[in-house]
Amino acid sequence: MKKRTVFVCQNCGFHSPKWLGRCSQCGEWNTMMEELEDEALVELPEGSSEPVLYQQIKETTSQRIPVGIEQLNNVLGGGLVLGSVVLIGGEPGIGKSTLLLQVSRDLASGNEPVLYVSGEESLEQIKIRGDRLGLKSEKVYLLAETSLERIVNAADRMKPRVLVIDSVQTMFSAHLTSSPGTISQVREVTNQVFRFAKKNQVPVFLIGHITKDGTLAGPKSLEHMVDVVLLFEGERDHNHRVLRVLKNRFGPVSELAIFEMSQAGLRAIDNPSAFFLRERPQNEPGSVVVSTIKGSRPLLVEIQALVSSTLFMGNPRRMSIGLDHYRVSMLLALVEKKVGYSFAGEDIYLNVAGGLTIDEPAADLGVVLAVISSVKNLPLPREVAVFGEVGLSGEIRSVSQPLARVREAKSLGFETVLMPEGNLQQLETENLKGIKCIGVSSVRKALAEVF
Ligand code: TYD
Ligand code: MG
Repeated sequence: MKKRTVFVCQNCGFHSPKWLGRCSQCGEWNTMMEELEDEALVELPEGSSEPVLYQQIKETTSQRIPVGIEQLNNVLGGGLVLGSVVLIGGEPGIGKSTLLLQVSRDLASGNEPVLYVSGEESLEQIKIRGDRLGLKSEKVYLLAETSLERIVNAADRMKPRVLVIDSVQTMFSAHLTSSPGTISQVREVTNQVFRFAKKNQVPVFLIGHITKDGTLAGPKSLEHMVDVVLLFEGERDHNHRVLRVLKNRFGPVSELAIFEMSQAGLRAIDNPSAFFLRERPQNEPGSVVVSTIKGSRPLLVEIQALVSSTLFMGNPRRMSIGLDHYRVSMLLALVEKKVGYSFAGEDIYLNVAGGLTIDEPAADLGVVLAVISSVKNLPLPREVAVFGEVGLSGEIRSVSQPLARVREAKSLGFETVLMPEGNLQQLETENLKGIKCIGVSSVRKALAEVF
């Protein structure tokens, strides 16, 4: 076999015969790495393929096995599909290995073992984690191995119920000469794992590390090779974790699950709204509860604002955590112009409590009310939740899923919801039983309602 070297972009997989400082395909800097190019072995496939008429295709419902954690089942679209490859990405230390060891524990049963392969930790290290998670007599087999061929071999013999590979970046295939973690290896590994999964109808969890900017490291190009891509996120200083779906060939991509990291591993949170509101201060100015949509489910979160005079000469500070900075600037400008406050000489800090991020305009009204509440030093009535997009003329615009938002507020004991007038007209009267919904059409009207 003839070998020559090529430079391969570790971000997008672009091949170049010479080194480049900047990849000419994806524009990333310093991503070209020298790899040995393997000449593809071209074999003519035997036999021929027959196209099938659309009407003759039989419907098959893919078989699913439920994983122990209900919230994870939902995220997967109703369980783990046999033969599917699920990629779980997340930063180091976020809890990927913990989550999958828990899943392995729950799935291993009598004569159906689970095979957990780790290329990162020794068996002893995994055992320490397993002890914390209460793993005892379950049939979880561990394998500390990085050679993919040996792993596939072991899995072929064992026929596990589920195979876990921790992590794709540590595995290497003997078919390629490049080192583990390079894009060619990561792709080859995924490819072989995919073939194994389909051939044996064994579901595989593939763990992948992600880089600081949030893309699945290098293997951005892996996303199209697997069936499901999940992202495990969280803040280091908070103990909750969010599991999101980026892609799902067998279900919706809007699902999301929230976990809490505890001494005994990850615990799914049944009622995230109550969880995020549990430490809400009583009668404090600057605090507003917003009914927002995370994934496809409603979630109540607290937005906090602090407006205080700038101490030193110079530009006042504008800080927002968990909210879009540009959107906040726009809303502040709007409050100055339409409501008549001047923020020159005022520092403004905004924060979403609990380290969450809100990225939908439906939180606008909450931001505006939190800022004004802090300026006036007047708390909002405690039993009010709000939602609504604010337009540049100060008008309150309708948002999606008003009913889900109102219901969530009601289920958490809120008595009043301040919402866009347009949304209120969409709701049926029977939906409004047990909770008072106030429709407002402008920021001014909203202010008149709460202060
Ligand atoms: P880990 O699953 O090793 O993360 P990843 O595989 O994504 O790199 O989790 C690492 C962190 O989780 C570590 O800092 C310790 C913490 N942890 C707990 O708080 N409780 C537990 O029961 C376990 C097993 C881990
Ligand atoms: Mg790990």
